[in-house]
Amino acid sequence: MKFDAPIGDTPIDNGRVVGRPHSRVEGPLKVTGRATYAAEWHEDLPAMLYGAIVPATIAKGTVKAVDPQAARQSPGVVEVLTFEDIDIHGTSSGRTVKMVGGPEVQHYHQALGIVIAETFEQARAAAALVHFEYEVGAGSFSLDGGRADAKVCGAYGGPGETRLGDFEAAFEAGEVRFDAEYRTGAHSPAMIEPFASIAQWQGDDLMLWTSNQMIAGTRGSMASMLRLDEERVRIFSPYVGGGFGAKLWANADAILAAIAAKKVGRPVKVVMPRGLIFNNTINRPETIQRLRIAARADGTIEAFGHEGWSGNVKGGNPESTVMASRSVYAGPNRLMADHMAHLDLPEGNAVRAPGDAVGSIAVEIAMDEMAEKLGLDPIEFRVINDSQVDPSKPEKTFTNRHLVRCLRDGAERFGWGDRMAPGTRRDGKWLIGMGVATAYRAALRHASGAAVRLETNGRITVETDMTDIGTGSYTILAQTAGEMLGVSVDRVDVRLGDSRFPVSAGSGGQWGASSSTSGLYVACVNLRRSIAERLSMDAERVEFEGGEVRSGNRVCSLLDAVAGGPVEAEGKFDFAQSDTKAFGTFGAHFVEVGVDAYTGEVRVRRMLAVCSAGRILNPVSARSQVIGAMTWGVGAALSEKLEVDERYGCFLNHDLALYEVPVHADIPHQDVVFLDDLDPHGNPMKAHGVGELGLCGVGGAIANAVYNATGTRLRKVPMMVEDIIPHLPEPV
Ligand code: MOS
Repeated sequence: MKFDAPIGDTPIDNGRVVGRPHSRVEGPLKVTGRATYAAEWHEDLPAMLYGAIVPATIAKGTVKAVDPQAARQSPGVVEVLTFEDIDIHGTSSGRTVKMVGGPEVQHYHQALGIVIAETFEQARAAAALVHFEYEVGAGSFSLDGGRADAKVCGAYGGPGETRLGDFEAAFEAGEVRFDAEYRTGAHSPAMIEPFASIAQWQGDDLMLWTSNQMIAGTRGSMASMLRLDEERVRIFSPYVGGGFGAKLWANADAILAAIAAKKVGRPVKVVMPRGLIFNNTINRPETIQRLRIAARADGTIEAFGHEGWSGNVKGGNPESTVMASRSVYAGPNRLMADHMAHLDLPEGNAVRAPGDAVGSIAVEIAMDEMAEKLGLDPIEFRVINDSQVDPSKPEKTFTNRHLVRCLRDGAERFGWGDRMAPGTRRDGKWLIGMGVATAYRAALRHASGAAVRLETNGRITVETDMTDIGTGSYTILAQTAGEMLGVSVDRVDVRLGDSRFPVSAGSGGQWGASSSTSGLYVACVNLRRSIAERLSMDAERVEFEGGEVRSGNRVCSLLDAVAGGPVEAEGKFDFAQSDTKAFGTFGAHFVEVGVDAYTGEVRVRRMLAVCSAGRILNPVSARSQVIGAMTWGVGAALSEKLEVDERYGCFLNHDLALYEVPVHADIPHQDVVFLDDLDPHGNPMKAHGVGELGLCGVGGAIANAVYNATGTRLRKVPMMVEDIIPHLPEPV
C-alpha cells in the first residue's frame, strides 16, 4: 500500500481495542522470567561456549605485538582469536569504527579479540591474560581543544548548515538580542540488558540470537561483514531490555560471537560486561551550543541562530543539535549549523532522540532567558512564535501542530499561574521554582511489512520482524489486529524479532509504533478481503466484530472462514517519499523543583507532559514511554554525564555506580496528558510515536525551574550541586 493521501474512516476508528488502555501482553512472561532474552537460550544449545571480548586499553595508537600464549594455557580455554586471526569485511552498517580494531586502535576498549572458553569465568579470566604491546599515539579527547578545528558537518545524511533570509544582518538589527553558549554532557544509553549474542552455525547458516532494534539491517550487515548471502543469516531478537539507539545495528558481541562459533564449531555466547559497554559501544557526545535570538519588542522573533559543536571519531556524525531548531520557532532569518571536531573518544552515535534531546535543552533555556529579557511570560513568548508552517520550509504546512494547545492546557493543569518571581518562593529549606519547555520531535515513518493469519482455532497470528525494545510493540500490534479482525487482544498471538518474518520499520527514531502498526493494518485489510471471499461476502461491506463477520443480514463466525484451513495475508505500509506536508510531534513539559537552600541539591517535585502525537494507540504503553523519556530528561539535567579521562582517552565512569541515571526516589510525581488528536496524513493509523517526544525539552524545563527557584541561571547540564552552591542565598 502506497500511502499518499489522507485516509478517511477505517475500522481502527471504531476504537474498541486500539486506543484503549491495555497492559503489555508479554508482561506475564517478563515478570516470571519466561521471556527469553538474547543471553538466555541455553536449553536449545548444549555444548555452548563462552566468549569474552578482549578490549584495547589505549585510546589511540598501534598494536606492535600480540602475545596470546598465557591466555591459551589458561584453564578451560578453547580458542583465542585476536585481530590477526579475524577477518571482517567493512564495519557494522550504521557504525563508524571497526567492530574489531588492530593493529590501529581507534578508541579505548575497542575490541581487539575474543577468548572462548568452557565457562564464562574461564573466558573472562583468560581475556585478561592476552597481552598486547602498544605504541601509544597522541589522541585528542577534549571538545574545547578540538573546537577551533571543528568543521561544519551534517548528521545522518542531513545538511550541516542551513540558512534562510539574512541571519547576521537581522540579528545585528534586532531590537532585543540574546547571545549565549550552553553545554550538555555526554550520555551513555545505559540500557538494563547488556549487549548480548549467541551464535550457532548450522552448516553454512548462521543463527544469531541477539539483542537488537533493527532486524533486517542487522541481518544485512552481519552477512556483509561475514561475506555471506543474507539468506544464510537468521537473526532472532524477540525480547530486548532497552536499546536507546545503541542496538540499531550489530555490535562487537554479535560479530565476535559469529566468528568465534564458526572457528570452534560450537555455539558461542558473548555478553558484554557492564564495564565494557560505556567505552566499547556508542554514546551521545558532549555538546557546546550557541544560541542567538533577536526579536522585536513585542516578542516576535526576527532572527534565530543555533550552532552546535560536538566531537566524534573520523567519519562519524556530529550530534545533530540544531535539527529541531529548523522546525520549531518562527523567524524569517535563520542560521542552523552543526560542527564536528575530530576526537579519539569512543564513537558518538544515535542515543534516544539523537540531537534533539540535548539541542532542545539549550534552545529551551535560551527561550526562557529571552522571554525574561522581553518581559514576557515564557509560555506567551513561545505562543507568539508558534508557526503552522515549517519555519525553514515555509511551503510546507504541519499536518498536526498543536503546540499552543499543549502549552495552554499544561499551564492550566499545572497551576502555572502560581509561579512567582525568581528566587522568591520558599517552602522551609526548599527554594521552589517552576519551568516550562516546548517538546518537538520529528514524526518519521518507515516502510513496514507484516503477515497475519487466521488460524483454524479462530486465533490470530501476527508475524513481523518488528522489535519490542520495552516499548509495547507486542501490545499495540495485538490491538491493531484485534480491532481490524473484531477480536479481543487475548485472541491474538504476536511473534516479533525474527528475520524470517516480513521486514518491518524496526524500532528507532520513534517511528516504530506508527509504522509497524500501519504495516499490520495493511496486512489486515488484505486478510479481511480473503476472509470475505472465503465466506462469499462483499469485502467492501463486511464488518468484523465479536469474533463474527457480518455483511448485510448475513452473520458468520470467523471459524466458518477457516473450515478449509488457515487464511493468511501479508501487507506493507509504504508512502510517497516527497512529503508536501511537514510532520511533527509536539508537547509541553512543566516541571516544579525544590532546591535545598543549604546544600544546593535539586529535587524534582512534579512533572507534567502534555503531548500531541496523533492517535494514541495504547494510553498505558504510550504513557510509559513518556514517563521513561521524562526520566531521561531528569538524568540529563541533574546527573548523567560521561566524564572524560584525558590521560587515557576514555570515559572514566563506565558503570552504573558512577554514571548516575535517575532512580525511583528521584522521580516523585509525573503526569502525562495526551491530546489524542488524529492525524490522517501520515499513515493509516493516524498515529505518531511519543517515545522520543517525551524526552525533548525536559532538561530545559528543569533548568528553567532551577532558575525560577534560585534566581541563578546555569548554562550547563547536568547541573551539579557544586554549580549551584556558590549561588545560594546566605543562610538565614
Ligand atoms: Mo533511537 S536513538 O533512533 O533508537
